[in-house]
Amino acid sequence: SAAEKGGYDYFMLKEIVEQPYAVADTLLGRVGVDGTLTLDEMRLAPHELRQISKVVIIACGTSYHAGLIAKYAIEHWCRIPCEVEVASEFRYRDPILDSQTLVIAISQSGESMDTLMAVRYAREQHSRVLAICNVNGSTIPRESDGVLYTHAGPEVGVAATKTFLTQLVACYLVGLYLAQVRGLKFGDEINAIIEQLARMPEQVGRVLETVEPVRELARSLADAKTVLFLGRHVGYPVAMEGALKLKELAYMHAEAFAAGELKHGPIALIEEGLPVVVVVPSREGRGVLHDKIVSNIQEIRARGARTIVIAEEGDESVRPYSDALIEIPSVPTLLQPIVATVPLQVFACELALAKGNDVDQPRNLAKSVTVE
Ligand code: AGP
Repeated sequence: SAAEKGGYDYFMLKEIVEQPYAVADTLLGRVGVDGTLTLDEMRLAPHELRQISKVVIIACGTSYHAGLIAKYAIEHWCRIPCEVEVASEFRYRDPILDSQTLVIAISQSGESMDTLMAVRYAREQHSRVLAICNVNGSTIPRESDGVLYTHAGPEVGVAATKTFLTQLVACYLVGLYLAQVRGLKFGDEINAIIEQLARMPEQVGRVLETVEPVRELARSLADAKTVLFLGRHVGYPVAMEGALKLKELAYMHAEAFAAGELKHGPIALIEEGLPVVVVVPSREGRGVLHDKIVSNIQEIRARGARTIVIAEEGDESVRPYSDALIEIPSVPTLLQPIVATVPLQVFACELALAKGNDVDQPRNLAKSVTVE
């Protein structure tokens, strides 16, 4: 009913605007005022976490994209090698696992069969398995050694939105906690990030206040045949998520590339009027990547692409090359996916609505995939 949807026509629209609260709930009780993290429910003791020599993340679909982002954060903060793999590929290639491997299974529903089978396989190999999950008491957390719940509240729309943002938060919490218990040298950076992470509900709220032009833009692209997405560093998985959302909801061909790969092939696709969404890294720290992507935008625009640029507020360097500029708050690079994903969700949702699609129940899809 309309009441269940909080006055919105679709659950997805409601779930997008609930994201600041969902993110706040995932942080609740876990970040102390002094920046100390408390993740006792994880049921993995600090001494066990100190022995971990490798992290392997397994997940499907959108949850896999959260895992790809987590890899950047975990390797940078914890200096532990981290692999990410789609769950359906994992156990069929004889992966190298042992008791010092921490396997993180990310699943909104906790019921994806591909992920569950990978969890069972990892436990047979004596790895420690931590689930990141949104549904209390679901199968994957029950079969794992520990769990961190995302507390996003029930998500009805088939397309993951608030559960994705909260998976990111949970992954960051795990990475920061690992860094804390292992006493790493980046003390100051870790504390600064924790402070910024605590401000994410407010930052996501700010993005939502400014997305109206994104809706208009999406409607104007309802007849496009294909949309390309480019990103670098953590912006690359964000681009992948933007492309997946568009496929799922608008039934449109969409593909993401690492911006640095453009010149190795995909640039041949660029033609007059082709919409290309570019996620621009923040200028902080990795200014080099920022400047490289600005050159990519220039290159594709010179070849006729219609550039839709997502960049942090005040980044004037991209304006001359942007047919549409979507501004997001300035946050540390590793946390940028939390704010950069939101306009992409709105974009896909609005484009799908303009095509007359049911965004809560896209064709051929189910909320949880309980077959292999
Ligand atoms: C997300 O929009 C999709 N519905 C899908 O890719 C989903 O993320 C995937 O099936 C994994 O589901 P899970 O997180 O419940 O395991």
